[in-house]
Amino acid sequence: MNNQPIGFIDSGVGGLSVVKEVMKVLPNEQLYFVGDTQRNPYGSRPLNEVKIFSQQLANFLQTKKIKLLVIACNTATAAALEDLQTELDIPVIGVIEPGSKSAVATTKNNTIGVIGTEGTIHSREYNKKIKQLNKSTLIKSVACQPFVEIVEEDNLSPKEITTVVSNSLNAFDQVNMDTLILGCTHFPLIESYIRDYFDEQITLINPAVETANLVQQTLIKEHLLNEEDSQPKEHIFYTTGSVEKFKEISNKWLDNKNFRVESLSLKELID
Ligand code: DGL
Repeated sequence: MNNQPIGFIDSGVGGLSVVKEVMKVLPNEQLYFVGDTQRNPYGSRPLNEVKIFSQQLANFLQTKKIKLLVIACNTATAAALEDLQTELDIPVIGVIEPGSKSAVATTKNNTIGVIGTEGTIHSREYNKKIKQLNKSTLIKSVACQPFVEIVEEDNLSPKEITTVVSNSLNAFDQVNMDTLILGCTHFPLIESYIRDYFDEQITLINPAVETANLVQQTLIKEHLLNEEDSQPKEHIFYTTGSVEKFKEISNKWLDNKNFRVESLSLKELID
């Protein structure tokens, strides 16, 4: 069991922001990732549909004998975490609770901003988790769905990205928050633009960092850690969209190049 891969699912390339953090803390593990690029974006779909898609991706990875599943997508976490935790007989980890914990531990003025997809923001999962941790926290959530396309398409100029980012983030102009959760795994890929919009007083929280720690703790607790000292086997990234484009973005975004990208047909996922 310990040599088996860890699985990750997302609607596209965004989940690689979680893969990147897990690679840092668990360099011995082999990672399998599925990005459902063809059906991206998930964030503007009904949560029930996202739940079904997430189950399809998880079932595919189960055929690859993964030992733990990371839902590397906030929208899919909001839609399917509880169901997948019940349905699968391996540990299943989402990104919303780690992100919330990290933000509550960081804020000094008890005011947190959240940006995410339409689905994540409307689900109010971040609000629920943050309030469970600290009832008195003030929360301002804003859906920034267009950011997903910026990342997936990867073809806008810096000036165009700055405009799209400002048009959404100006909803925070009157909000006195000191902490902002990047509540979509696509957003760390344009973090510099988000950071540029705010002054330095605001701490950006990338839930992937805390998620990677949770993955590590869970593997230790469940005695699933790969303790072999040899180089890990090649990581495998499946995409339901263009292999070339996925490869290009992965190469740009990840320092670790020990991966290959494979095509996955929707037919194989659905059957
Ligand atoms: N990366 C995903 C998330 O964290 C979803 C982006 C999308 O497909 O809309 O919510």
